[in-house]
Amino acid sequence: MLSGKNILLGICGGIAAYKICFLIRKFKQNGANVQVVATPNALNFVTKLTLQTLSQNEVKVDEFEKIKNFSPEHISFADSSDIFVIAPATANTISKIANGICDNLLTSVACAFTKPMIFAPAMNTNMWKNSAVQKNIQTLKNKGFRFCDPESGFLACGYNGQGRLCDVEKIFNKVVETLKNGSKLKGKKIVVTAGGTREKIDSVRFLSNYSSGKMGIAIADTAYNQGAEVVLISTVKTSKPYKVVNVDSALEMKDAVEKEFSDSNCLIMAAAVADYRAKEIAEQKIKKTDEDEITLTFVKNPDILKEICTKKGLEQIVIGFCAESQNLIENAKEKILAKGCNFLVANDISRKDTGFSSDYNEVLILDKNGNINKLEKTLKTEIAKEILKVLYCD
Ligand code: PMT
Repeated sequence: MLSGKNILLGICGGIAAYKICFLIRKFKQNGANVQVVATPNALNFVTKLTLQTLSQNEVKVDEFEKIKNFSPEHISFADSSDIFVIAPATANTISKIANGICDNLLTSVACAFTKPMIFAPAMNTNMWKNSAVQKNIQTLKNKGFRFCDPESGFLACGYNGQGRLCDVEKIFNKVVETLKNGSKLKGKKIVVTAGGTREKIDSVRFLSNYSSGKMGIAIADTAYNQGAEVVLISTVKTSKPYKVVNVDSALEMKDAVEKEFSDSNCLIMAAAVADYRAKEIAEQKIKKTDEDEITLTFVKNPDILKEICTKKGLEQIVIGFCAESQNLIENAKEKILAKGCNFLVANDISRKDTGFSSDYNEVLILDKNGNINKLEKTLKTEIAKEILKVLYCD
């Protein structure tokens, strides 16, 4: 299952380190080359000799060991490995990596690593619940790193609660799945828009909508995890391991989309773009007057999706979204024709449990030939996987 794959295995100083011996065995039995990088504290729990014998490779700990070919090890490991698994990942190492600290070989490799990384944390339950640790885990998750969360049960420290390293079988399966999916969109450039545009009214006010960017970001993360070169054009500020272009207004989004689309394979417009913008943006805050009413004039924004569809090459795929509060199917059928996109993902935005701001969505995927595929309510991350399937060659 893992033949030809180079797995870099980072082991930190926690009692669960002994369980990683079984993980190394499983990787080896399935044909992988395993290179262990251990923190100095990891060797308090498991010996170098054990890890070396199981992995059949020299175990690396020290960042400043003799450099054989002028290629620093933290860079050469990052370049030559297909995946970096950190198990057990301690609170200390997780927090250092989340904050870009490189004070040993393992954290330096993590900082230089650009391919998929999986963390399998294990620690005392109070350490797991600690708000600083949770914040650092969230930072890493937001950046697209994968986690095999710890399980609940009896811990070596005598506590009962969440913190126990998850089953090594689960870590193994996650590695297999990640490596399998990691190349589905290899070689493809995918541009995704996310969030609601902000149309300025004056120096302190704007017109916008409830889009959180979650749908677009889920698509961008999934495409990245499947090996695509991703450009996310977003009104929501976010830090990712792929390119993010921050925009505010529809006009700014249009410029960014046009710039990135020309050499891309696919554009996915999940952003909620305002149809209108203020005709004039007041330089200063508009003052309250004695009048009971105020009139603002809005002008139409360009339709980014529609315009891009008139320019797209035959091989390029454009996927639009469709947000409706009534007559979803009828409006979606009309919209796919009016916009000219290859696919349209339609969602009902009148619902509170899906659509805007929710972690969930329920959608219809329409194609040009009138076929409709309904995806029942599920996490936006799952919807993203289904949407991207239309891009697979096989
Ligand atoms: O961000 P979330 O909180 O996760 O919410 C997700 C979502 C509800 C915003 C998302 O699922 C969604 O429906 N996005 C499209 C919102 C929208 O603008 O729909 P629309 O039916 O008004 O527009 C149709 C398509 O044209 C969309 O792809 C839109 O990006 C595009 N458009 C619209 C107007 C415009 N001036 N230019 C455009 O390109």
